[in-house]
Amino acid sequence: MEKKHNAMSEPEWLEDFRRMNREAEVAGGKDKIESQHKKGKYTARERIQRLLDPGTFQEIDKFVTHRSTDFGLDKNRPLGDGVVTGYGKINGRLVYIFAHDFAVFGGSLGEAFGRKITKVMDLAMKNGAPIIGINDSGGARIQEGVVSLAAYSEIFFRNTLASGVVPQISLIAGPTAGGAVYSPALTDMVIMVKGISNMFITGPDVVKAAVGQQVTFEELGGYEVHSEKSGVAHFVADNEDQSFSLVRRLLTYLPQNNSLPPPRVKPRDSPTRTDPNLRYILPPDPNGAYDIRDIIARVVDDGEYLEMHKDWAKNITVGFARLDGYSIGVVANQPSHLSGSLDIDSSNKAARFVRFCDAFNIPIVTFVDVPGYLPGIEQEHGGIIRHGSKLLFAYCEATVPKVTVIIRKAYGGAYCAMGSKYSRADINYAWPTAEIAVMGPEGAVNIIFRKEIDAADDKAKRRQALIKEYRQKFANPYIAAGRGIIDEVIDPAETRPKLISALDSLRDKSEFRPRKKHGNIPL
Ligand code: HXC
Repeated sequence: MEKKHNAMSEPEWLEDFRRMNREAEVAGGKDKIESQHKKGKYTARERIQRLLDPGTFQEIDKFVTHRSTDFGLDKNRPLGDGVVTGYGKINGRLVYIFAHDFAVFGGSLGEAFGRKITKVMDLAMKNGAPIIGINDSGGARIQEGVVSLAAYSEIFFRNTLASGVVPQISLIAGPTAGGAVYSPALTDMVIMVKGISNMFITGPDVVKAAVGQQVTFEELGGYEVHSEKSGVAHFVADNEDQSFSLVRRLLTYLPQNNSLPPPRVKPRDSPTRTDPNLRYILPPDPNGAYDIRDIIARVVDDGEYLEMHKDWAKNITVGFARLDGYSIGVVANQPSHLSGSLDIDSSNKAARFVRFCDAFNIPIVTFVDVPGYLPGIEQEHGGIIRHGSKLLFAYCEATVPKVTVIIRKAYGGAYCAMGSKYSRADINYAWPTAEIAVMGPEGAVNIIFRKEIDAADDKAKRRQALIKEYRQKFANPYIAAGRGIIDEVIDPAETRPKLISALDSLRDKSEFRPRKKHGNIPL
């Protein structure tokens, strides 16, 4: 006979079930949670709830505990072991997620903790969905010794396998120390939050003991260091809530995995919109500075451009935008900084971005205004040859649709690197203001007319006349267009519709490279 439901007599298991869940949800204890809030930080669970679509989070491994017995750990086995893992939705799309719980052993990583993370990473790979990690951790759990190092290595291995297969995004929402920094560094995007996050491989105490330097957490690995100097952080958010919005926005530009295109967002902007202001946007002085982002904003859908690495290597800008609703990756020289020349950092920044776009089926639109690679002892000794060649490698390797617009200068090796015809851009446009040559007029006349200038009575006047002559002859797009190196010289006003048509024609592009295990990019 079927038992009747009776509100007065709950099943025996229900109390245990509720108690276990309650315990897991405050595993670090109320004091630790309070201390987390006092530091201006959300708890791991609060973070997940705020980031994901409401009600979509499904937790996995809530009751997992560690198996260690050393240093008194046998008497302290918090449920969940200091990391909350599972899956849910963002903008209706599946994502896998883990969030370090600083309230438990300072978010430090041991064997069980590591296994929980690798389990969701494996699921993400099998199901072709992005992985988001929220980091807030003191690094390897010291009491667990070598097994925690092994657990890190298992994560690094999966980060490497997942690279180029599913997007991996790391949010840094607290201290991220020791081994905890390398997993984020292996992912595609690192987002730091002002005031609460820092990243370092050894903390200030060790730095002092090892090399005698006195430094604060912020000076060593705060958001300014990593977003302006080291290039480790791709984005910075003012606070945690803003970082969650940023992740949600970022994902709109990305596909679920490398076998799918990014989702199209219904455009508000017209695909045939022209912009006559672009005809007048360049400064009258051919060497004058301007902000290339003003051109990007006038071309892309609704002027929306999500700039990455905004404060690092500012002589190039990279980021995501849309054209007729389709995601694009934008790479553009920035003449307002170092005249837009390519140096070590900007080559690294752009090369990595080009490879990201190529891995995830995001067409690349390149705007060129580059006077060349930055000359100087510092650059040469720093390895500009090795770093600069990464950009050539990345463009040549990329098989996604590539469309290039030369706005103004395109000189020398930097011309070759910036999505030229020979690095296999599919369509190359030039504005009538484009100057395409081996080098700029000043440098060129000094070399090829040195004897003639030396012999002249008025050297300065002769030099100026030769510069003018060179500029008229070479510093325009028509010689390149005459050779088919430029496919079309376009009216700047029509840049947007031209790009949209070009990308539309390339939607089903397929291009192959020789089979190999992997290339050997000059790292
Ligand atoms: C075990 C740890 C821990 C760790 C912190 N805790 N880090 N437990 N292993 N790695 C514990 C603390 O003992 C403390 O426990 C609690 O977490 C909170 O830490 P506090 O120090 O009180 O917090 P706070 O003052 O906010 O400082 C946070 C911190 C600091 C900056 C992260 O804890 C710190 O410097 N930790 C060590 C960082 C580090 O050097 N990690 C490198 C590990 S070696 P109680 O019980 O007192 O609350 C490594 C190499 C791996 O990671 C290489 C793999 C490739």
